[in-house]
Amino acid sequence: MHRRITGKLVIATHNPGKLAEMKELLAPYGIEAVSAGELGLDEPEETGNDFRSNAAIKAIAAARATGFPSFADDSGIVVDALDGAPGIYSARWAGPTKDFNAAMAQIERLLQERGATTPDKRRAHFVSALCVAWPDDHLEEVEARVDGTLAWPPRGTAGFGYDPMFLPDGHSRTFGEMESIEKHGLPPHGLGLSHRARAFVKLAEICLEPR
Ligand code: IMP
Repeated sequence: MHRRITGKLVIATHNPGKLAEMKELLAPYGIEAVSAGELGLDEPEETGNDFRSNAAIKAIAAARATGFPSFADDSGIVVDALDGAPGIYSARWAGPTKDFNAAMAQIERLLQERGATTPDKRRAHFVSALCVAWPDDHLEEVEARVDGTLAWPPRGTAGFGYDPMFLPDGHSRTFGEMESIEKHGLPPHGLGLSHRARAFVKLAEICLEPR
């Protein structure tokens, strides 16, 4: 049986951008979102082998430490021609200075080495895994993806991370060229295009009730 989220929800992230996005998404449901950062929680080590287990590790650690239902996400970009890299290591490829221009250049270098020059050989997808954990270890987990191809050179200055090189299927602009509302916004305001927006819709269906 799925479990509904009511009252307070700890957002297990130290990333202010992710917290702001989640607060906005949760507001229509009357959920009070508090961040793990605000509560001074430590960030657990992400030792999982996939997005889903890393989201669960973070959500479970926050639920046990606070006694409240806790939400965590894990995401990244998966490049087919690179055997799934950078995948769960997407953030790490940018290094300690979070240099995503360098990370995108690294992907491009590897694609060129493998002769991946045509769109059919440059397939990639973003993945978002979301987990809500309760203090009694009950879990609700969802995952979603958005498919596309990798463009070069990168285009657009909106968004973050690998957005400027990701061209979602059915669109002629990269995520870096799209407004945030187009990429992340949920219908009727946005297209519900991104992996995170799609995963959130799935989570809302099973765990949230509009006020
Ligand atoms: P984490 O989910 O915080 O572990 O980090 C995921 C990493 O994947 C981010 O640092 C970004 O580099 C990348 N990523 C995840 N979602 C997106 C997105 O929507 N656009 C661009 N990059 C993303």
